[in-house]
Amino acid sequence: MVIKGNIISADRFGEIRIIKNGYIVIKDEKIANLSDILPFEYKDDELIDYGNKLIFQAFSDMHLHAPQFPMLGMGYDLELLDWLNTYTFPTEAKFSNVEYAKKTYKVLAKELIKNGTTRVAMFSSLHKDSTLILMDELDKAGISGYVGKVNMDRNGGVDLEEDTDDSINDTIDWIKKSNFKNIRPIITPRFIPSCTPKLLKALGEIAEKYDLKIQSHLSENISEINLVKSLENVTEYYKAYEKYGLWNNKTLMAHCVHSSEEEIKSLRDNGVYVVHCASSNNNLTSGYARIRYLLNNGVKVVLGSDIAAGDKLSMFDNVVETIKASKARVIIGDNLAFLTPEEAFYLATSAANEFFGEKPGFAVGNKFNAIVLDDSDLLNTEKLSIKERFERMFYLREEDAIKVVYSNGKAVYNSKN
Ligand code: GUN
Ligand code: FE
Repeated sequence: MVIKGNIISADRFGEIRIIKNGYIVIKDEKIANLSDILPFEYKDDELIDYGNKLIFQAFSDMHLHAPQFPMLGMGYDLELLDWLNTYTFPTEAKFSNVEYAKKTYKVLAKELIKNGTTRVAMFSSLHKDSTLILMDELDKAGISGYVGKVNMDRNGGVDLEEDTDDSINDTIDWIKKSNFKNIRPIITPRFIPSCTPKLLKALGEIAEKYDLKIQSHLSENISEINLVKSLENVTEYYKAYEKYGLWNNKTLMAHCVHSSEEEIKSLRDNGVYVVHCASSNNNLTSGYARIRYLLNNGVKVVLGSDIAAGDKLSMFDNVVETIKASKARVIIGDNLAFLTPEEAFYLATSAANEFFGEKPGFAVGNKFNAIVLDDSDLLNTEKLSIKERFERMFYLREEDAIKVVYSNGKAVYNSKN
């Protein structure tokens, strides 16, 4: 199959590659060729011509909470710890009901695809069966990536807390039952205040034994950091993960708004990914993460919507939130540049490719994940450069701008259907 249109990819941090009226050749889910003229050998392949439309790389949302989807856009009057206890834990507790889970997760999977998010690293709840349902619904919708059964055996209250041994046994059972085409299990201690040392130690061992990736939260909020230091008797938050084998180059840590110099150095030296969640950090008054500073210091950064602390499922919107948060840092006195749309787009797409074992951009050999966008109803489209049209899509795209979404080489969303 060959796809034609105005192709935009984030090949390098801060630079987009534009191929006007270019061709992408797709073979067996993957990109076989990318160029401005169609190589002769593909001239008889089926060609879909998207005319003057824009073809973007699809997005990777590297941190979000599926069972918080029902509370999206509500409860932002509290900071993290009170927000968790008051709104979040009661909402997640409802996912003991597998029927409710199925209904909710079907809608979530559809919404993700409709918004051009084809890859995720996602938190489920602590419930094993509902987690398997979530994985199945994402897989069926055409989403790839990682889903974690959450572990929490302390401070969850009566309705959202596991017995330590049950938590460990359920995790192993869930890993063994996770047989999906494109969705894999990821070890997911909620955060240090939710997990006892015994559980954290077991999770580190399970991650190693089954060779699994890891995701959690780090240095999001000052009260949280102080709580972790007192619970675990550590001088730095990250050391509570490090000491249990939950700190390596297969680890995603959401937030890092208040990471110390020492923590930043360890993030870099261990190749741990920071997942920046700008919308969430604003809504819960957590702070403005120092993304430019982290990048300048060699830390790997990707983006997450962090719904429902974040209120935007669309990664287009999260790119805007990221740019705005970086400008807020400049306004409050950072002597560093804010992030450009090209940079934020890279963080929302290509920066996560390495985590999925791929190269940046629409590289040959990558799975084909893309969004076809129509901006013809906006003012002056025909007079603008592709670069201007690219930038405007984040701020101004119309409700039905996304026409087709491709995941692993297949059209998984079409606005006409
Ligand atoms: N820290 C621990 N759990 C959560 C959560 O669900 N959301 C956010 N934003 N931070 C957390
Ligand atoms: Fe989160």
